[in-house]
Amino acid sequence: MKYVIANWKMYQGTRGGAALVRAMLRAYRGKTDLPEVVVCPGFLAIGELQKVLSRSRVKLGAQDAFWEDDGAHTGSVGPSMLKDAGCEYVILGHSERRAEFGETNEMVSKKVGAALRASLRVVLCVGADIEGPLRGSLEGVLRKDVGRLLVVYEPEGAISSQGRGAEDLEKVLEAFAKIRAVLKDLFNGAVSVPLLYGGSVDGENAYTYLREDAIDGVLVGSASVKIHHITDIIGAALRAMNPRGL
Ligand code: PGA
Repeated sequence: MKYVIANWKMYQGTRGGAALVRAMLRAYRGKTDLPEVVVCPGFLAIGELQKVLSRSRVKLGAQDAFWEDDGAHTGSVGPSMLKDAGCEYVILGHSERRAEFGETNEMVSKKVGAALRASLRVVLCVGADIEGPLRGSLEGVLRKDVGRLLVVYEPEGAISSQGRGAEDLEKVLEAFAKIRAVLKDLFNGAVSVPLLYGGSVDGENAYTYLREDAIDGVLVGSASVKIHHITDIIGAALRAMNPRGL
């Protein structure tokens, strides 16, 4: 199974977002064996997209969640609220949140714990500095919950807003080996956690990453709101999953 996770950031609102997912669904109508496609819009669009996606196989996710689940926390959105609104996934620890809101590993680990308790699947992002953030953000996670975890290697410099372009495949594979070693150590043995790559993935380069057995999927930012790119990326995942078909 390959994953295509669309991180819309602040690129798309409710109306444009609904039109975009309708176009996405049209492009894949009738196809079987689809990859796991997850759309993560801004909070405000979640309700509307839940309606549009409810009878499709495309899943809904959020770009963040608070570490408390209810209470006096003005302006925050807790994991159970997301679950209640139809989300199955949540992205946590993204480098933009670490840089813009000062999120520390400790804060991310509290969010990871709360999201797992709410039965969300956690898409944990780590940047170029792998070991500290991975250990810190997974502090307290129990082996029994590891099945709901995905880890994204997303070197900060490769994010499209930095303009430096996607990371070389070899470097991604080296980083994945490091991530696997840390996970093995943390959870006392090999665990099956999908590993994704993120950073300037688009319709042109997606297959380079997705065709690798070691790469379980991609996290896509700016290209995920462009219909031709996202359909090509999903097409690349389909091709990687069914090399003899399509
Ligand atoms: P990008 O963003 O695809 O625009 O590089 C990826 C991300 O930051 O999640």
